[in-house]
Amino acid sequence: MKLVTCGLPYANGKLHIGHMRTYIPADVYVRFLRMMNEKVIFICGSDCHGTPIVVNAEREGLKPEELVEKYHEHFLRVFKELAVEFDFFGKTTEKYHHERTREIVNRLIENGYVYSKEIELAYCESCKRFLPDRYVEGICPYCKTPARGDECDQGCGRHLEPGEILEPRCKICGNRAVFKKRTHYFFKLTAFQEFLKEYLSRVSGTENAINYAKEWVNNLRDWCITRDLEWGVKFPLDESLVLYVWVDAPIGYISFTEQLTNDWKKIWIDGEAEIIHFIGLDIAYHHCIFWPSMLKAAGYALPSAVVASGMVKVEGKTFSKSRGYVVWVEDEYLKASLNPDYLRYYIVNYTSHEKDLNFSWDTFKEKVNNEIIATFGNFLFRILSFAWKNFGKIKMEVDGEIMEKISMTRERIVEAIKKWEFKVATDAIMELASFGNSYFQNSKPWDLIKYDKDKAMKVVANALQLVKALVIFSYPVMPKSMEKIAKSIGLDVRTCSIDDVMKIDDEVVISKPEIPFEKIEDEEIEKLKKSLFDRFAEKPEISIEEFRKLDIRIGKILDAKKIEKSKKLLKLLVDIGDEKRQLVAGIAENHRPEDLIGKLVVVIANLKPAKIMGVESKGMILAADVGGKAVLLVPEKEVAAGTKVK
Ligand code: 2FM
Ligand code: ZN
Repeated sequence: MKLVTCGLPYANGKLHIGHMRTYIPADVYVRFLRMMNEKVIFICGSDCHGTPIVVNAEREGLKPEELVEKYHEHFLRVFKELAVEFDFFGKTTEKYHHERTREIVNRLIENGYVYSKEIELAYCESCKRFLPDRYVEGICPYCKTPARGDECDQGCGRHLEPGEILEPRCKICGNRAVFKKRTHYFFKLTAFQEFLKEYLSRVSGTENAINYAKEWVNNLRDWCITRDLEWGVKFPLDESLVLYVWVDAPIGYISFTEQLTNDWKKIWIDGEAEIIHFIGLDIAYHHCIFWPSMLKAAGYALPSAVVASGMVKVEGKTFSKSRGYVVWVEDEYLKASLNPDYLRYYIVNYTSHEKDLNFSWDTFKEKVNNEIIATFGNFLFRILSFAWKNFGKIKMEVDGEIMEKISMTRERIVEAIKKWEFKVATDAIMELASFGNSYFQNSKPWDLIKYDKDKAMKVVANALQLVKALVIFSYPVMPKSMEKIAKSIGLDVRTCSIDDVMKIDDEVVISKPEIPFEKIEDEEIEKLKKSLFDRFAEKPEISIEEFRKLDIRIGKILDAKKIEKSKKLLKLLVDIGDEKRQLVAGIAENHRPEDLIGKLVVVIANLKPAKIMGVESKGMILAADVGGKAVLLVPEKEVAAGTKVK
């Protein structure tokens, strides 16, 4: 038996293409394994604790539990659309998860791997609180890049321990933090150096993760496992503290398995299953260092493989949500009604699983139109239409050569999947489709049929066997599309084994085939590109003349009112010197109308008028965009309304 897991997404934001780089290949892998007659359990869930959740909840004006629920629902919806089918998708806020986590932590304590120590922690004197993890920002002590409290996210990628960050600042108020003493609890990670060396020499998975981990093993420090937060799993020895989110999150793999099956002990205690973790490379440290040590310390079974996907770039830029280098799955991809199977194919076939994937809408369009449609879809549709129009029922006599070709492809696929080489597997499928195209083209059944119907039928039978093989081989990658096509040859592909490609039916009855895929139009891609490029942090260079076209002035807000049915918009009346202007501003979420009256703001006065929710807006006020919230730009001192800005 195999247990396949995916890194738990933080329930603090929407799914983007970076997430899909892990979840789609994992789903493809599980579907292939099942087709290869393996018993597999596929597990994931929402990671609901830690400062990532609390900080975003504050930002969105929600309670942590509300935020978590909102994104949990989003995950379920998007995974369903993309045919990523977990057997269980849990939530770390559930009672069962807290119980399992505390049980494991108690074992760590009983086994002597936890000790307390007084440490110096970042503390904000104006907010009067300790600043765990993402509440603090500063400088990475290793590479000197700006970093957040628990991770050097823009520099060397190291995990940072509490108290390590240099020049800490409070994320909430922006003030410089001080260091203050506080007792916390540590896990004796250093006691596991020898164990980890041995473990990493035998654990399987992708080299990217394992090789990094082998380097890290030589620089272990004990691991602070508690935090000053309300939100999380309470630490058994001191309930004023919660466990660090990276203690409880991976335990979700266990607690979710427990919810799904009574066999969970066989898997997690007796070690009777292979445990395979799919993760993004950025969380390799947690999965190759912390996690196996914790399992070992608590007497649980160890993972057999860590499979790390390479990172994602967007149009050549390093992936970054705050800079806009991101593609949102629901709001962009699915909203454009693009076939989910296209994304699945693109992600597994673009490059090898370990390498970086550079997402670009142009290459996406090319791969879909040239490979899925022109090569693969074209072959399927051409054969099925020809067979349906000319025969309807085909006696299946298939040549040895064709079966040989199919058998070789099957071997290539099986070998590649075992090594997580999804590109190799899907390239083999495309090659078989190209072979099919040439075979059919060269055999010219449309000529044969005029004088030798039997011979023409033999060509069609050969081609149909290739169609059947292609449908079965590509089902794990493009499940929804393949289910549809399979029906036209009377096949239920969901229950097929990969070995069924070698079975030859006596005859095949064809029903009217539908065009399997829709071509992606240039216009659609241009729209998607535009919405992406519009939010890129780097804008094209402009000349001073272009800049001078802007009429920027200081305005004084005379009146402000809420716009009915809108949470975000306010209607403002602004004195811009020679006239009073009505304009609409998306600042209602964090500004009360009465606080704005009399305020000086910066206005673009010559923006083309527009109607926003039925209200006329002539101009725009300027604000800094802080995580979606507007912080107004104001002049340094009192100046007259209408003063030019240059
Ligand atoms: O990095 C992340 O997005 C984490 N939420 C992953 C957790 S994986 C596991 F350990 F639970
Ligand atoms: Zn660093």
